[in-house]
Amino acid sequence: MHVILIAGGWSDERDVSLSGARKIHTALEELGHDVTFFDPADDFKNLLKTARKADFAFINLHGTPGEDGLIQAVLDKAGCPYQGAGPAASYLALNKAASKEVFEDLAIKTPAWQIITPTQGVNAPLDLPLPVFVKPDKGGSSLGMSLVKKAEDLPAALDKVFAMCQSALVEEYIPGVELTCGILGDRALPLIMIRPKANAEFFDYENKYAEDGADEICPAPVSDALTASIQGQMLAAHKALGLTGYSRGDFMVTDSGEAYLLEVNTLPGMTPTSLLPQAAAHVGLSFTDLIGELIRLGIETGCA
Ligand SMILES: Nc1ncnc2c1ncn2[C@@H]1O[C@H](COP(=O)(O)OP(=O)(O)O)[C@@H](O)[C@H]1O
Ligand SMILES: [Mg+2]
Repeated sequence: MHVILIAGGWSDERDVSLSGARKIHTALEELGHDVTFFDPADDFKNLLKTARKADFAFINLHGTPGEDGLIQAVLDKAGCPYQGAGPAASYLALNKAASKEVFEDLAIKTPAWQIITPTQGVNAPLDLPLPVFVKPDKGGSSLGMSLVKKAEDLPAALDKVFAMCQSALVEEYIPGVELTCGILGDRALPLIMIRPKANAEFFDYENKYAEDGADEICPAPVSDALTASIQGQMLAAHKALGLTGYSRGDFMVTDSGEAYLLEVNTLPGMTPTSLLPQAAAHVGLSFTDLIGELIRLGIETGCA
């Protein structure tokens, strides 16, 4: 097949996207496809035309455009199938606050939260007890995120988010361990436990992408009951958000075993050492097999 590999873009996560794309390129060639690299940052005006000539598009963008569903909408218009979620589901899942409404609707626990908008300003009253996490209500890779322990630090944390032209999601801090659950097709993959290195307060940008930034243990050393419960919640969230193909959800789990869903990623990291590829390896899928399976699922779903 003639596959366009869409990566790069102009979000803050451009470098992560490009580094993943190199491995995906090799995997696509191993699968026998004829690959053309497409960077929306250079050639956005030719996306529709290019996609019309391709049999499939593999999207490896993080942030926007990509996770917001825009590229997917253009690909649908071109009749070019792609892996993962369609435009509307991507848009919904990218917005952390709107997703949390969906989780709560399913009775899936998510940290208590409030939105503070730039119009309300940095001195808006806080409805939650400290400490709190302050993050852009859409985005990824922990960019713009702060852990606020003292009230006087809140305005600076909000300023950081507002500077990214976004409203702020302020969340209750959930102490505990972090577990991530991937979905592939209609099944949940084994859980991975993520333990940031001792000196990191949370899974920050550096920790996420450094070679040895965090210990990642797969399958996560937790009970079968907790594993099944998180997998069930993740599958339910995936379906309720309208996602197809794959996704990955991040959970915080307290010492007493209460799991809180933070967010669902529609274009999860895709280097061979990224979380979802690691979990897929545990069910016998090599990185190349995983790319092949995502293409199969994308063709099965087709275009809107
Ligand atoms: N409410 C919270 N309580 C505890 N840790 C959190 C909370 N929110 C975020 N974190 C930590 O910050 C990381 C990034 O947060 P997340 O909401 O997943 O944003 P991103 O889109 O940047 O991945 C999480 O993986 C977790 O380690
Ligand atoms: Mg996350």
